[in-house]
Amino acid sequence: MAVEFPKLKLDRSMALFEEAQRLSPGGVMGIRRPYNFVQGEYPIFIDHGYGGHIVDVDGNDYIDMLCAYGPIILGYNEPEINAAVKEQIDQKGFCFSLVQEVQNRLEQRIIDLVPCAEQVILVKTGSDATSLAVRIARGYTDKKYILRCGYHGWHDWCVEGHGGVPEETIALTEGFEYGNLADLEEKLNHHPGEVAGVIITPVGHPGAKPLIEPPKGYLEAVRDLAHKHSAVLIFDEIRTGFRAALGGAQQRYGVTPDLGTFGKALANGYAISCVAGKREIMSVCEKKVFVSSTFFPNSLEMVAALKCLEILEREDVQNRIWERGTRFLQRLREIVAQSGCPATVSGIPPMPFVTFDKAPEDGDKIYRARREYFYTQTIRRGLFIQPYHHWYIAYRHTEADLEKALWAIQEALELTMKKYPIGAH
Ligand SMILES: Cc1ncc(COP(=O)(O)O)c(C=O)c1O
Repeated sequence: MAVEFPKLKLDRSMALFEEAQRLSPGGVMGIRRPYNFVQGEYPIFIDHGYGGHIVDVDGNDYIDMLCAYGPIILGYNEPEINAAVKEQIDQKGFCFSLVQEVQNRLEQRIIDLVPCAEQVILVKTGSDATSLAVRIARGYTDKKYILRCGYHGWHDWCVEGHGGVPEETIALTEGFEYGNLADLEEKLNHHPGEVAGVIITPVGHPGAKPLIEPPKGYLEAVRDLAHKHSAVLIFDEIRTGFRAALGGAQQRYGVTPDLGTFGKALANGYAISCVAGKREIMSVCEKKVFVSSTFFPNSLEMVAALKCLEILEREDVQNRIWERGTRFLQRLREIVAQSGCPATVSGIPPMPFVTFDKAPEDGDKIYRARREYFYTQTIRRGLFIQPYHHWYIAYRHTEADLEKALWAIQEALELTMKKYPIGAH
């Protein structure tokens, strides 16, 4: 029978957070703020990582299934990637007024792997890539509206909080619902002849809600609708790129967009991303559309990306993760069903998730109490997962790691349903 685990010792994390709040507004930014986890129960500062684990500044060791919000596809501190990067530092250097040869090699690799990639532009962050793709779509079509579906980053055109962004900018982007073709069509018709681009995450991952694997024919229909309205179709593959398959979700689901954006898993944690797409569209960046940044040509991240892609291909990483993730999802479904907890298991094998549901017999807010208590019990058992963001399976998660994760989930659910049985609140 499961018993409550005691609260973790987090003194050093908390002291560092105090200090951080003096140094920086809010201490830490955005999704890393403590209220995005369970406040007071989760660490705030990490000391180091190894394999599929992280260790916080108080010495607590966790199986990390958030994977730095996605970049860690292999594991932390990968020796082969570290060695390649160190060699570049020692033998060549990485920041110059001009570009290094490795840029061509990486672009060629991406062109070889990704179905939509006829040309590539390397940038640094996911937001760089999605913002560039949107600018390319506008430059190519000479139109202004963007229809978007999913999280695409923090830049003005798509940021979810509107503070500091002019209304006029916000009015140029409209969201549509994943899986709802009528909604997309209505929004395309709403701006007849004025939609430059449709940007969508090929797997639906709305924040804090169940993930949605593309229903049969859906991505094809999105493509056809975008093209009917002469809009550029962009797949935002920042999460699914080099993860759903080596060539991304577009390869796994067999639908090729005009442009794709990639980041996160491309270099196992190094800051690099890209826009890849059809030559005819990309070529607006020859003259008409400007893109440049001091750090875009820095080569350390390119070296890391090339090495990461080499390992991904050599060890058939995506398929190994897919197999393990398929078994994990299956077990997760059984465990959640057996617990009787009103919750939904969703995701694709590399990106599993559990969300807590409102049950008709319950009070309105009880699902939140269950969620908080569940995540309290999983973190106390050394499983680092996020209440509002799906989880990831990394290559270095061992069978033992995944078993332990399932054990923690099973016990946490058992305790949750004991504390908050259906209809009792
Ligand atoms: C689908 C998607 N697009 C874009 C971004 C933005 O990437 P970044 O945070 O690297 O700017 C993210 C980040 O989580 C993302 O998940």
